[in-house]
Amino acid sequence: MQAIANLNGQQMPLSEARISALDRGFLFGDAVYEVLRVYQGRPWLVLEHFQRLEQSLKAIRINGVDLLRLRKRMLATIAAGPFQEATVYIQVTRGEAPRTHAFPEKARPLEFLYVQEFHDRYREARQTGAAVIARPDIRWGRCDIKSTNLLGNVLAMQAAKEAGCLEALFYLPDGTLTEGTHTSFFGVLQGAVLTAPRSTAILPGITRGLLLRLAAKAEIPVREHVLKRSDLASVSELFLTGTTSEVLPVIRVDGQTIGNGRPGPVTRRLQEAYQQAVIDSVREKAARIRA
Ligand code: PDD
Repeated sequence: MQAIANLNGQQMPLSEARISALDRGFLFGDAVYEVLRVYQGRPWLVLEHFQRLEQSLKAIRINGVDLLRLRKRMLATIAAGPFQEATVYIQVTRGEAPRTHAFPEKARPLEFLYVQEFHDRYREARQTGAAVIARPDIRWGRCDIKSTNLLGNVLAMQAAKEAGCLEALFYLPDGTLTEGTHTSFFGVLQGAVLTAPRSTAILPGITRGLLLRLAAKAEIPVREHVLKRSDLASVSELFLTGTTSEVLPVIRVDGQTIGNGRPGPVTRRLQEAYQQAVIDSVREKAARIRA
């Protein structure tokens, strides 16, 4: 079944969506985006994703986007399709205007989204653990904004693919590990879960936020503290989180084995807590609709 799009309020098959070659998203990457997961026909963590979209729009000064309307369009597009397990991609650009760097006087933001069936690339690795590589973080200074400028991520992910790995982790000149190309990064050190604190160097991952809440609920100690490449020898577990990867154990970095080379107990507990949170949310939404 074809993916379904909504472009500025018009629903259509994704293959029919067309945008101007003068759209600033195309010319400058002057755009922000979100990716949401749909479980059993129900979008997951909608409020969190729309709050982050609002923050991204504000950070790059795109005004006049009606986010409630966009959310309704998203729900209508999900409802129009047969997809039970799906992803939603949303992108807002500054719109179409003659090419000039500064903001144009009269551009109307372009609001685009599509819903497509979810194919789980991580199913096996979630059980067995993933191998990843580490790459210098060559991205810009505002990685907290979910911008469509993803060239640094694209190049690092291609290097990972060519190395037969599932993800690339970025590190800063001092060795600090920031995040993956499309995932947040966690380590387990002496029983505590560690992840980089929020800063302009990382995206505030929605799954990261959920994981921190789930860990606290499970009484697993959590510290928002950076890990460096030199810490990889001492961590007992590593894992990644993201909208499509969920909670993904990492067992090798650049060929170096992490812990005992198998997904560890803390990662397993958090994977189970994540699954339970999804099940609870789907049940709760179904009950609300019946009531
Ligand atoms: N990527 N860090 C980066 C750089 C990301 O691009 C993403 C998400 C994450 C994880 O965030 P979240 O838990 O909100 O998905 C962290 C999306 C899924 C993508 O670009 O496809």
